[in-house]
Amino acid sequence: MCGIVGYVGTENNAKEVIIEGLKRLEYRGYDSAGIALCRDGKVETRKHVGEIANLEKIIGDPDYDSSVGIGHTRWATHGAPSDVNAHPHSNSDNTITVVHNGIIENFVELREWLIDEYGVKFKSDTDTEVIAHLIGIYYDGDLHQAVNRAVEQMRGAYAIGVIAAAEPDKIVAVRKDAPMVAGIGEGCNFIASDIPALLKYVRKIYLIENNETIVLTKDEIKIYDENQKVVKRDVFHVTWDADAAEMDGYEHFMMKEIHEQPKGLYETLTRRLNEDDTINLDGISMTKEDIENFNKVYIVACGTAYHAGLVGKAAIEKMARIPVEVDIASEFRYRDPFVDDKTLFIAISQSGETLDTLAALREAKRKGARILSVVNVVGSSVARESDDVFYTWAGPEIAVASTKAYTTQLMCMYLLALYMGHTKGVIDKDYYARFIEELKQIPDKLEDLLKKEKEIEAVAKKYCRKEQVFFIGRGVDSGVSYEGSLKLKEISYINSFAIAAGELKHGTIALIEEDTLVFALATQDFLFEKMLSNIQEIKARGANVVGVAKEGNREIEKQSTEVIYIPDCMDEVTPLLSVVPLQLFAYFVAKFRGCNIDKPKNLAKSVTVE
Ligand code: F6R
Repeated sequence: MCGIVGYVGTENNAKEVIIEGLKRLEYRGYDSAGIALCRDGKVETRKHVGEIANLEKIIGDPDYDSSVGIGHTRWATHGAPSDVNAHPHSNSDNTITVVHNGIIENFVELREWLIDEYGVKFKSDTDTEVIAHLIGIYYDGDLHQAVNRAVEQMRGAYAIGVIAAAEPDKIVAVRKDAPMVAGIGEGCNFIASDIPALLKYVRKIYLIENNETIVLTKDEIKIYDENQKVVKRDVFHVTWDADAAEMDGYEHFMMKEIHEQPKGLYETLTRRLNEDDTINLDGISMTKEDIENFNKVYIVACGTAYHAGLVGKAAIEKMARIPVEVDIASEFRYRDPFVDDKTLFIAISQSGETLDTLAALREAKRKGARILSVVNVVGSSVARESDDVFYTWAGPEIAVASTKAYTTQLMCMYLLALYMGHTKGVIDKDYYARFIEELKQIPDKLEDLLKKEKEIEAVAKKYCRKEQVFFIGRGVDSGVSYEGSLKLKEISYINSFAIAAGELKHGTIALIEEDTLVFALATQDFLFEKMLSNIQEIKARGANVVGVAKEGNREIEKQSTEVIYIPDCMDEVTPLLSVVPLQLFAYFVAKFRGCNIDKPKNLAKSVTVE
């Protein structure tokens, strides 16, 4: 994971540019941060464990600036979070300095070789330091060539930015299986792990492809392919608003993003609806014949995106009558899955950079599947490597805990399922029209639901000291339960557990006792009575039950300690609403417990390591 930024310009403002960029990348990790500037024929590095604010305290000195530098915000992989393991890392005489995002898989071997052959003394426990020493060994006045030679020996995933004391006017950067973009300025140029890092300064971007090297000076950006041939790249113009990455008066990005869900859902829906309310798959090349040919769908993703896949499975199976398997990306690729040219492989990813998802996608592609991705970040790796992309128009999601990405992913899955079902002639016109009408009403219903914020805050206040919480549901409610549980554990550090309600009695009910807190999702009309029985079983053991049900289904009040009602809607689309009280509950619990909501410990927004 980690975020990197590099700047080459004319003015002595590299420090400000790099720090500004790193702040936009803190979602990629915040274990430590550091910066290295080319100054007076030397490279001067300053770094500190913890967030960027800690780094800022030690670089205030106005003399410490330059027109060229690199910076890093870290999510620790090799070596504990500490000052010494913080990036940038340099070779022994500090002439070569590197920032790195990714993992060097053969770093132990390289480290031993460097020690045995060159007597290198390592200062840190990181894999990155190996890169600095390797480049240092090959350096004879040409940084580009030295980086090329070093890269030949490196295995793994990396995006690196390198500066040399003897060439203070340039940055050399390489991308392999980790994201990188280059920003085109006037009299200055930039590199970064992600576009938001550069939006304050540039709107014109080069999307760097895998195995490409870039050489950056203030006047030009040269991109080389893996055979070191110069590549001509189209400029990507960023149209979205830099302010989307601001907090807008909310206390946390997570709360802001929860409130942005109606708008995100509206965008995702309306971009795919024609004037006559039919769905358009503009830009997606999948034909009627393709859809009729698929005999299997794989939905593969990680974390929250995987939970969106669980709901997607229900929708596609019901509407398009094609068997769907949902798999965790890190498992999929290692078990030789049944995939062929009749398989539709759907990758779901907010960032589009999750390495596990990307690797699964490549494996499915290798086996001949057709690849469709549901992605939020335009131009990301998953998007670029897919045959077709169904974008979620959630806007930038900054909080580590995903909220609006999830609901917009659900919207995409519903639209896709409807489209496939309609194309195959499985669903009739009335159902199609009714479903679209339901989807159109969701943004307003969600807006109404958000008015219950205070009510949910009160529930959170009551239960915020619990050390264990369960989430249960049936059908699509069980998929939403997993998401509610993940939200709670990742930001409040409470041990939470989700299980299909009917499965509870097969073992897990042993954990239910006096005062245990259970969220019971009972939004499915056809399963409502079954859920009431499950709730009774839990109540009988003395548990506190917070029911989540549709407005009007008041029967649940008799069995529950509290009930949160969501607006009435079709059973199929309840996940778009029922997840929201769970997001808010997790948010308020984390707040009452004093947790760092937007940056939970040990996590990063974009997981580009295996
Ligand atoms: C949890 C969360 C993660 C991500 C997962 C996949 O709130 O955000 O579980 O969903 O790491 O990330 P993407 O969607 O970027 O592939």
